[in-house]
Amino acid sequence: MKIAIVPGDGIGAEIIAEAIKVLNVLDLKFETEFALAGGVAYASHSHPLPEATLKLAREADAVLFGAVGDWRYDQLDRPLRPEQAILGLRKHLGLFANLRPAICYEQLVGASSLKPELVSGLDMLIIRDATGDVYFGQPRGRRTAVDGHFPGAQEGFDTMRYSRPEIERIAHVAFQAARERNRRLTSVDKANVLETSQFWRDIVTEVSKDYPDVEFDHMYIDNAAMQLVKAPRKFDVIVTGNMFGDILSDEAAMLTGSIGMLPSASLNASNQGLYEPSHGSAPDIAGKGIANPLATILSAAMMLRFSFNQADAANRIESAVKDVLASGLRTVDIYSEGTTKVGTCAMGDAVVASIRRKATAG
Ligand code: IPM
Ligand code: MG
Repeated sequence: MKIAIVPGDGIGAEIIAEAIKVLNVLDLKFETEFALAGGVAYASHSHPLPEATLKLAREADAVLFGAVGDWRYDQLDRPLRPEQAILGLRKHLGLFANLRPAICYEQLVGASSLKPELVSGLDMLIIRDATGDVYFGQPRGRRTAVDGHFPGAQEGFDTMRYSRPEIERIAHVAFQAARERNRRLTSVDKANVLETSQFWRDIVTEVSKDYPDVEFDHMYIDNAAMQLVKAPRKFDVIVTGNMFGDILSDEAAMLTGSIGMLPSASLNASNQGLYEPSHGSAPDIAGKGIANPLATILSAAMMLRFSFNQADAANRIESAVKDVLASGLRTVDIYSEGTTKVGTCAMGDAVVASIRRKATAG
């Protein structure tokens, strides 16, 4: 197993260090190599995704990624901004299937901005295409308008597009994931307005014929955004495009009250994967040793499950995380009265200790 470790910016290095600690206690054989991405890569290599990082990522079986983003580089030309590191990795490795679970941990129900009875037991999965749509569609840019409301004026434009194979493959991933869960899938689009979305809807409907055992429906993005805060537990799996998925996955993460807890996976057709926390680089708390490492630790668990077929080891990590929460330890982002506030490193240590304890007990 070869793992490319890419800590990135902000709290990236701190949270990745804890995930590595946890991986090291599992007695698995793997090789790791580190690489730079994001603002730190720009600072030393004048590019957010240096060639060496891309090469390492391509050659690895999996990439364990921290986070990128640094306000100091937000004024650079777009291709040089930190975010291009993650967009470039998705694109060059073909990581089209972005899996974003949103789970409300029982002990954290109170941390949600929604009433406990709405989110208690929430366990859903958003499957977002991550290599298509208006994110990557060409042409894009600025030009002088030849038509529209103000011909002759400067305008910015992007292109929303999806091809049949792109929609088919993400739909298959989603139906198969639904089969492994509660067999319900909602496809989200804006087919009442957009051609791309009507095409998406037609193709996903075609694919649904292969999965008669999965209860399937469509929902418009605006309604989905509303249903997510109204009755989130109605959802099992959502499949959607890049842009809508970006927005809905942040919304769903926040419902759980613990964006610091949520991992994600981005897979390509050969099950090579990139694993990263759903949260960002949090530059405001970088270096303070207070970031929540659990999303990254859980991302490492997803990596073991999806890229290395080590479901057993993944379960051990996940159950250790639950134990640590049950024991009352909390980083500041999920802290509430009556619990024990700990820093990044102590949280990682606690997960390691729990795994060790269970190994001796079992
Ligand atoms: C995400 C992020 C990225 C995205 C940014 C950093 C480019 O918001 O992973 O959701 O929009 O995909
Ligand atoms: Mg996002």
